Amino acid sequence: MDKWIEKYLTDYSSPEDPVLEDLYRQTHIKFVNPNMSAGHLHGKLLEFISRMIKPDKILEIGTFTGYSAICLARGLKPGGKLITIEINDELREFSHSYFCKAGVDSKIIQMTGKAQDIVPGLNHLFDLVYIDGDKREYIEYFKLIIDKVIRGGFILADNVLWGEKVLEKTTKDPQTRGIIEFNEMIRKDKSIEKVILPVRDGIMLLRVV
Ligand SMILES: C[S@@+](CC[C@H](N)C(=O)[O-])C[C@H]1O[C@@H](n2cnc3c(N)ncnc32)[C@H](O)[C@@H]1O
Repeated sequence: MDKWIEKYLTDYSSPEDPVLEDLYRQTHIKFVNPNMSAGHLHGKLLEFISRMIKPDKILEIGTFTGYSAICLARGLKPGGKLITIEINDELREFSHSYFCKAGVDSKIIQMTGKAQDIVPGLNHLFDLVYIDGDKREYIEYFKLIIDKVIRGGFILADNVLWGEKVLEKTTKDPQTRGIIEFNEMIRKDKSIEKVILPVRDGIMLLRVV
């Protein structure tokens, strides 16, 4: 997104709350690839989407330090739960400390391991799924979760523009290929309604019809 647009959108959106601001700052101080964290605008959008859907069950693939999980959890129905899966066990304690600071720890179930191993064992139907794991694995995640989404439920997939690299049709970069192939698969799937928003790195909104 152009810098001036991002600044304008940020200036005219609700401010980032102090816990998320601190989480974002600490993520940048303490972790490698901090730009993976959702951040203010993207997080606010996730929070809004979740508040509009008022889901009872949310599944997230790719917790990282927990920014998007906090935003999504804020929209849950009373008593609702968000299950978030993260392969890197070193992130667990840090993200949990921020779930507590944000007051959403009782709504979040953290699972550590590979999504491909965990998702098949989940006996829930989800109203909302947020795909934000390894870009090479989006198709695998989609195939695993599609039967676990309620009819009329929603799936969000992050980074679907992949810094404009999706235009490099002949690229051999595996992450770019992963995103291109995922986007193509979704384009052909008539059972899914879809729209892409150009926020940050592109977020795809899907509705299972
Ligand atoms: C882009 S980051 C997630 C950012 C997070 N949603 C946020 O907004 O703060 C992707 C995360 O997915 C995790 N990951 C990658 N492959 C995974 C897999 N197969 N199963 C679970 N987590 C995975 C990575 O370790 C990384 O922390």
